Amino acid sequence: MAFSPLSSLATRLIHGLDPEHAHEAAIEALALGMGPTAPRDVPALSTRCMGLRFPNPIGMAAGFDKNARIPMALARMGFGHVECGTVTPRPQEGNPKPRLFRLTEDRAIINRMGFNGDGIDAFVARLTRFRQLQAGRSAAIRQVPIGANLGINKIGARPLEDYPYLVSRVAGLADYITINLSSPNTPGLRDLQSAQTLGDILAAVRAHNPGHPPLAVKLAPDLDPAALPDIVAAAIEGGVAGLIVSNTTISRPYSLSDAQASESGGLSGRPLAQLALMMLRRIVPLVDRRVAVISCGGIESGFDVFERLRAGADMIQVYTALIYHGPGLAAQMNKELLAELYRAGHESIADLKHDAA
Ligand SMILES: Cc1cc2nc3c(=O)[nH]c(=O)nc-3n(C[C@H](O)[C@H](O)[C@H](O)COP(=O)(O)O)c2cc1C
Repeated sequence: MAFSPLSSLATRLIHGLDPEHAHEAAIEALALGMGPTAPRDVPALSTRCMGLRFPNPIGMAAGFDKNARIPMALARMGFGHVECGTVTPRPQEGNPKPRLFRLTEDRAIINRMGFNGDGIDAFVARLTRFRQLQAGRSAAIRQVPIGANLGINKIGARPLEDYPYLVSRVAGLADYITINLSSPNTPGLRDLQSAQTLGDILAAVRAHNPGHPPLAVKLAPDLDPAALPDIVAAAIEGGVAGLIVSNTTISRPYSLSDAQASESGGLSGRPLAQLALMMLRRIVPLVDRRVAVISCGGIESGFDVFERLRAGADMIQVYTALIYHGPGLAAQMNKELLAELYRAGHESIADLKHDAA
C-alpha cells in the first residue's frame, strides 16, 4: 500500500470526533487526495456482473458518498465499484441530529440519517465533472463502474414520477443505477417493495427511459420470506439486472451489547452478517442465475467475501467495515480474498463461479 496520510494519524484523529463529524472529516480528507492508493488490480479477481466488467467484486456501498463527491478517491482505494447516493430529487436536511451511532463493542452502526443530501442537481453536476476528468486523464484514474443509488424525498414524494425522473438525470453518467426501496428512515419507502408497486415503478422507469443503464433494486433484510418469491419475480419481469441484498435492518439481534443498541434506525455491520447471509441464501435459488445478486451486510474480511461468493453472490458491497478498519480496507480484503481463492484451489473468481454453477 502506498503511503497515505489518512491511513495513520488522520484516521485516529477522525475517530476521536463524533460519528457524523468524523464522516464529514473523512470525506473532506479523501476529497483532498489524502486517501491511500491500492496496489495494482489482479486479473484473477476481475469479474463480470450486470453486463459490466469489475476489477474486483468488492464495492463501496451506498450512503458513504451520498453526494458523489469522492468516487475517484474511493476507486483509488481499491474498491471494484463505487455506489454514490442515495440521491433524492430535491435537497433535504434529513433527520435531526444525533442520527448516527457507532456501536463500537458490536462493530456496528445504527443510522437514521433520513436521506440527507444535496439533491439531484448537485449530484449530476459532480458526476459530470468526474466523467470529464476521467475522459481527460483516463490513464491516471482507476476505472471502476460507478453506480447511482436513487431515493425519494420525505415530503412531497411521488415514486412513480420521481424514480423515472431520477433515472433520466443519471442515465448518461452512471454505469448502473440502483432503485433504493429499502432504507428504513424514509416513512413509507419500504412499502414500495411489494411486488405490485415494485413492478409499477420499474414499468414507469422503463417507459420513460428506453436504453437506461443496468438497473439494480436494493432490498431490506427484514422482508417477510414468504413475500420474496413474488418480489424477485416482479423485479426480474421488470427488467432489473441485479438485486442488492441487503440494506440495514430494523431488527436488533439479542447479541448486541453496546449501550446505544436501543437507538432507532437501521443497524449495519457485524450483527447484520447472519441475517444478510440468510437473505442471500433465500434469494439465490429464487433468482436462479437470471440476474446478478450483490450481497451486502456485515462483510468485514476477504474470507467473508469468499463465503458470500460461494453462497451464490456475484459481488459484494461494504460500508460499516470501512469505518472500523479504515481506508486500507478494500486493498486488504482483496488480498485476503485472493489468498482464500487459492487456498480453496481456485485460480480466479471466474473459476469459483464456474465450479459453483
Ligand atoms: C451511515 C449509513 C448511511 C447509509 N446510507 C445509505 C443510503 O443512503 N442508501 C442506501 O441504499 N444504503 C445506505 N446505507 C446502507 C449501506 O449501503 C449497507 O447496505 C448497509 O450498511 C449494510 O452493509 P454494512 O454492514 O457493510 O454496512 C447506509 C449505511 C450507513 C451505515
